[in-house]
Parts: sequence; C-alpha cells; structure tokens
Amino acid sequence: MASSVLRALILVIALSLFISSAECLTGDSIIEHSQSVDGGLCFNLIRPCGYNCLEHTAQTNDGFLLGLQRVSSGILNLEIQTSPPVLLLHGLFMGGDAWFMNSPNQSLGFILADRGFDVWVGNVRGTKWSHGHQSLSEGDKEFWDWSWEEMALYDLETMLSYINSKTSSKVFVVGHSQGTIMSLAAFTEPNVVNMVEAAALLSPISYLDHITSKFVLNLVHMYLDEALGLLGMHQLNLKSDILINMIESACDNGNLDCSDMLASITGENCCFNSSRVDVYLEYEPHPSSVKNLKHLFQMIRKGTFARYDYGTIKNLLQYGKLKPPTFDLSKIPKSLPIWMAYGGNDALGDVIDVQHTLKELKSKPNVLFLEDYGHVDFLLSTRAYEDLYENMINFFRSCGNGMSSSF
Ligand SMILES: *[C@@H]1O[C@H](CO)[C@@H](O)[C@H](O)[C@H]1NC(C)=O
Ligand SMILES: *[C@@H]1O[C@H](CO)[C@@H](O)[C@H](O)[C@H]1NC(C)=O
Repeated sequence: MASSVLRALILVIALSLFISSAECLTGDSIIEHSQSVDGGLCFNLIRPCGYNCLEHTAQTNDGFLLGLQRVSSGILNLEIQTSPPVLLLHGLFMGGDAWFMNSPNQSLGFILADRGFDVWVGNVRGTKWSHGHQSLSEGDKEFWDWSWEEMALYDLETMLSYINSKTSSKVFVVGHSQGTIMSLAAFTEPNVVNMVEAAALLSPISYLDHITSKFVLNLVHMYLDEALGLLGMHQLNLKSDILINMIESACDNGNLDCSDMLASITGENCCFNSSRVDVYLEYEPHPSSVKNLKHLFQMIRKGTFARYDYGTIKNLLQYGKLKPPTFDLSKIPKSLPIWMAYGGNDALGDVIDVQHTLKELKSKPNVLFLEDYGHVDFLLSTRAYEDLYENMINFFRSCGNGMSSSF
C-alpha cells in the first residue's frame, strides 16, 4: 500500500520535472525555466496558461520566415474560429511574448482571447520567435540588411495577407511603439490598409524629434549607430558584451544616472511591476539590426518620417532622388478607424510628436491620454486593463460592422 503511494508520488514528481520547463508565468506560479527557451512561443508561454495556441509561419517577399501564433481562449476551438481576427505588433527589442508577460487579466493577448477575439501574434524579422530566412543565415550580413521600413513594407503586408487568407476577414491591428511606426508607414499603402478593419496604436510614433529620453539622446550624440557600423556589426544584440560595455560607458561619460535604467530610456512608468523583472528578462530583449537603429536615429536627428537615408549618391540610385521619400500620413484613408493612447511620461513617444502625427492624419482618431503613463506602461502596466484595454475593446466593438457582438 505505502509503496504504491510512493510509486505514484515519484511518477508525479518525475512528470512535473519534465513538464516544468514551460510554465504559465502568472500569479504565484512562476517557476524558473531550467531549460533554454525554445519550442516556440505557444509551448513556452501561452499554452501553459490554459489557452489554445497554434504556430504558423508566413514567408515575406524578401524571404524572411515570420512566426505567427494564433491564440484563443481555452473554451473555443481554434479550427472553427469565426470571431474577428486581431494582429498584435510588438515594439523594438521585443517579440510576440511582449503581450503575454503579466497575469492573464493584465496582458492584452490573454484579455483579447478571453473576449473572444481570434488573436494573431506577430513577430518581426530577426526576433526569436521568427524562423530566419529561406536562404540566408543569421551569420550573413545580408540577413540584417533592413530597418523598420522592411517591417512595414514586407512583414506587415505578409502577416495581414496570411491572416486574411485564413480568416477571410479584415483584421484589427494593435501596435506598440515600433509596431506603430511600421503600421503608420504601411497604412499609406492602399493594398495594405485595405486588409485592416481598424487600428489601435499604443504609444504611437511616426516623428521622433522631440524624444526626451536622456539615455537615447546620449547614444544619438555619441553616434552609437555609426560606431557599430564601423565595428562591422550588423546584428544588434543587447545581450552581447560589446553592447553592454558601450551602454555602461554612455552612462559614465554622459553624467547620466543609469541606476534606474528603464526610466532613463522610456520615461517614468507609473505601473511597472518591478518584482516581475526576472520574468521579463527571460524573454527580452530580442535582437534587431544595426540598420534599424540607424534608421531610428535618422528620424531623431532629422525629424522626418521617411525611408532609409543612404546618403545622396546612393539615394539617387535607390530612389532616383537626393533625399529619401517620406511616408505621407495624409495618404492613410479617412475611413480607417484609428484609436490611439499616449502618455505624459513617455520619453520616446513625446506628446509634441504625437500631436504632429495627429495633425498630418486626415482622420480624427479616438485619443486616450494618460498623464502618468511611460512608454512601457502601455504594455506592462498592472492597471492596463482598467486604464487602456477596456477602452480599446469598446472602440473595436464600435467599429466592427456586421460582426458578432459577442466579444
Ligand atoms: C487577476 O488575476 C490574478 C491571478 O492571476 C488574481 O489574483 C486577481 O484577483 C485578478 N484580478 C482581477 C481584477 O480579476
Ligand atoms: C507583481 O508581480 C508579482 C510577481 O509576479 C505578483 O505576485 C504581483 O501580484 C504583481 N503585482 C501586481 C500589482 O499585479
């Protein structure tokens, strides 16, 4: 008798050891990942919380294999989804995991699934949950030869076409930060915006010349982007030693107090849960390209929302013009419903730059201003549901024409 109880106990412990490499990272059930994070985003982060999740791969016209995850609440069948699709576009140095890192009632990915949305999680080129390139490998410098411009013109178009073909439905788009840069650029293209039902932009960015982030401005003045290019770097991996050293020297030389690193980059976040930093760092930061950083720094230096600037001679070859063509926000159709949320403490999405974007749009977006929100709050605030997401979901409901009102 006792020995069979013991045997059952050993079996349970053995099983839980096998299974414990993936855990729902919520509430008090955080268990350290004893193994490296692979097996996909569904396996690692979403299914352990009791949600349906399937991995998809979509190939861009320039050969990148993007990972997409389709998520629904555990009570719905993914194969017979009829609810409206929504695509989540993460920010710079993040991946699709960004939408699932707090508890299910705080994280947008889970909340939308619980509200019955057909949730599609985007992962741009170069990030961990994307699947590389058809012919190039990460060691090739050509693999990293892109910026947010290609994410807008290739990745977003590919994700939307893919979702469109699977659901025969227009798609709600939610972007945060870089996810809004690529959205706003891509929406100026009729073939892309035609696939979009409505857009919700968290910390919307198209102009960057008023950023107040001391940390980023320091790197801009140091010409970090050029320095990395001179060092022959193409991939931008914030976990690499060389970058950690450079960042430390920026903190020392710039008389910058980097003790509160996050706030000096993003602005003071009202509702950041610092007891979850270990969880966040398990997934972030994801890699990006040096060219992407250069492009972002060009926006900061020049105050333009334009294609990548190669310098006059190469611009002539590339664009037939001395200067790179701009993305004209007034080309975004007035008929596209847009909702935006921006914050008074956001050091990257500055209020003046947001006003600039609003002025150039033909439409009048629904706007939510949160005085005490910093850049990361729009993603990770412990109060995000009450402050933001409820409002966003009501907006989506109000513009879904002919859709089931059950979400
Ligand atoms: C959110 O979920 C946590 C556990 O994940 C629970 O303790 C908390 O009460 C929930 N809050 C609300 C407002 O539902
Ligand atoms: C902050 O994170 C800790 C650890 O995951 C969690 O126990 C706590 O409930 C979170 N706090 C809030 C306000 O969500």
